[in-house]
Amino acid sequence: ADYETILVEQRGGVTLVTLNRPQALNALNSQVLADLIAAFAAFDADPSQGCAVLTGSAKAFAAGADIKEMQSQGFADMYASNFFAGWEQVTRTRKPIIAAVAGYALGGGCEVAMMCDFILAADTAKFGQPEIKLAVSPGMGGSQRLTHAVGKAKAMEMVLTGRMMDAVEAERAGLVSRIIPAAELVEEAVKTAATIAAMAPLAVLANKEMVNAAFETGLAMGVQFERRLFHGLFGTADQSEGMAAFVEKRAGTWTGK
Ligand code: HXC
Repeated sequence: ADYETILVEQRGGVTLVTLNRPQALNALNSQVLADLIAAFAAFDADPSQGCAVLTGSAKAFAAGADIKEMQSQGFADMYASNFFAGWEQVTRTRKPIIAAVAGYALGGGCEVAMMCDFILAADTAKFGQPEIKLAVSPGMGGSQRLTHAVGKAKAMEMVLTGRMMDAVEAERAGLVSRIIPAAELVEEAVKTAATIAAMAPLAVLANKEMVNAAFETGLAMGVQFERRLFHGLFGTADQSEGMAAFVEKRAGTWTGK
C-alpha cells in the first residue's frame, strides 16, 4: 500500500511503521492518522504479521499534533468533526504495537506512544504534554493514560507545567519499559517484536486483552476476565501443542488455531 506520511516495512513477522514527516518533526495531522489507521488495520488482518513497531526519527518520535492544522479551528469545527476521536481506532488494534521512541514525544506524540502496548525509549527520548503552553490541553488521551502510567503527582506536574521527562525519569516512573542506546533502538524494538510474533497468535491476543482489562475493570472482574480467557486458551490446538512440546523438550510450532 502507498502511504503519504509513514513508511511501512515487513521484517519477517514484524511490521515496522515509521512516521515520516521530517520537515514537521513528525507532527501528527489528519493524513498521518488516516495512514496509521490503514496500516494498522492491514497489519491486524495479515496472518503473517504478529507484532508491530511504531517509530519516528532520531530527533523526534513526534513533536505533537499538527499545530498548524489546528490553529484556525474553532469550537464548532472541533466538536462537529469530533476532532482526534479517530485516534481511538489505533487503540483497537488487536495485535501488539511497540512504540520505539527516540527524541521528542510531545503532546500528541507522547499520547500516541502511550496508545501503543508498551514503550521502548532511546536514551535520547523526551516525553511531555506541553499543550498548556498553547492554552489548550491533551486531547488524545494524555491526561488519562499518563496518569495511569506514572500516577497523579507526575502527571499533574507534567500537564500543568509542560515540562519534559527524560528517558531515565520516564523509566523510573513506569512510562517506558526499558531504555536502549539510541543507535540500537529500532533493531532492539524489532527484535522484541519478533519475540512476540513468534508466540502462539491467539495467546498473544489474549494476553494483550487481559492486561488492558486492568485499566477498565476492578480487580475481581479483571481477575475473572483473565481466568475466563485463560480457560478459553485451553480450547486451542496451540495450547495442546505448547504443553506437549514442553513435555517432549522441543520447540512448539503454532497454527494459530
Ligand atoms: C506543527 C511542528 C510541530 C507541531 C514542530 N513543528 N512541532 N509543526 N505542529 N506540533 C515544525 C516547526 O514549526 C518547524 O517547522 C519544524 O517542525 C522544526 O521544528 P523547530 O521548532 O524548528 O525545531 P527545534 O527548534 O529543534 O524545536 C523542537 C521542539 C519544537 C522543541 C520539539 O518544535 C516544539 O516545541 N514543538 C511543539 C511542541 C508542542 O507544543 N507539541 C504539542 C502540540 S499540541 P518550520 O516550517 O518552521 O521549519 C498537541 C496536543 C493536541 O500535540 C491536543 C490539543 C491541542
